[in-house]
Amino acid sequence: MNSLARHALHRPAPPVLLDLCPTPDDLRGDVIAGLSSDPKTLPSKYFYDARGSQLFEEITRQPEYDLTRTEIALLQASMRDIREAVGAEAHVVEYGSGSGRKTQLLLGGLDSAVAYTPVEISREMLLESTQRLAYAFPEVQMLPVCADFTRPVPIPPPLQPAARRLAFFPGSTLGNFDEAASVELLAAMRETIGDDGRALIGIDLLKDVAEMEAAYNDAAGVTAAFTLNLLARINREAGADFDRRRFAHRAVFSPERSRIETSIVSRCAQVVHVAGQAFHLDAGEPIHVEISHKYTDAHFDALAAAAGLRVAHRWNAPADRFGLRLLEPA
Ligand code: TRP
Repeated sequence: MNSLARHALHRPAPPVLLDLCPTPDDLRGDVIAGLSSDPKTLPSKYFYDARGSQLFEEITRQPEYDLTRTEIALLQASMRDIREAVGAEAHVVEYGSGSGRKTQLLLGGLDSAVAYTPVEISREMLLESTQRLAYAFPEVQMLPVCADFTRPVPIPPPLQPAARRLAFFPGSTLGNFDEAASVELLAAMRETIGDDGRALIGIDLLKDVAEMEAAYNDAAGVTAAFTLNLLARINREAGADFDRRRFAHRAVFSPERSRIETSIVSRCAQVVHVAGQAFHLDAGEPIHVEISHKYTDAHFDALAAAAGLRVAHRWNAPADRFGLRLLEPA
């Protein structure tokens, strides 16, 4: 048998997608609404077009941005404990479709995971990452769900019943939601995993201000290119005329709110057009694009408690640079 035929024999069946038909994104509407509000905002969910995703990968390789490397090392170092705490035959439900390292570490490290459900609004990303993982984990049933994960999600039952569900939400992505939205999201997660479910959440921890700010202002300018790429996407997809040379990237830590606030700042007084609508910007006026919370234990525990969850286990990277938290229903 040639290698092609052998390959075909072992090809996993394409995963069956549960499509809850989430409302498609309205980029133009969102951009116009954001620029009409005071202060102006642009939604960060639009960062990740092809170029944006590539630039984000590059951010994770910058010396100043150690979140991803630290989280992966922490996941590796804690895997035995996590395996013990979660128990055998879990059904892993990932919030956002993980293509990479972290999902592989978790599925490979758990004691005989029975199924994997990425929940993701983009069908394309969902199918692509599920297919990739299906090759790596032929014994784990792939049950992707196309849905908006900020609300409770019905989870398809695996052929081999799972002992419990484990929600996985790494990357400190929780920190990109404001307080109210974080509690809502955790509450939705609690409902999705059920009474004996668990949730494994990655959170960046509060540390030295200069270090936190450097992570979002890398010397090579990759983060600046990443945030300003949003303007190029809006020009293309919403018929806008942003001149990116007239904008600058800014990321500063707000101690009051314990978060990095990233904005795109207008370098001069100017008018931009989006789908024929004009928006005036003052010199120095910021357009808010992202928040990245940095947590203390008290802060995170309070969010979890407000969502009906409690911290069952905590694992921190050396020098408390990043944390993983295993939550259970309170
Ligand atoms: N979840 C990441 C974080 O908040 C995303 C991110 C990294 C990011 N660098 C950024 C978002 C710069 C906007 C701008 O750390």
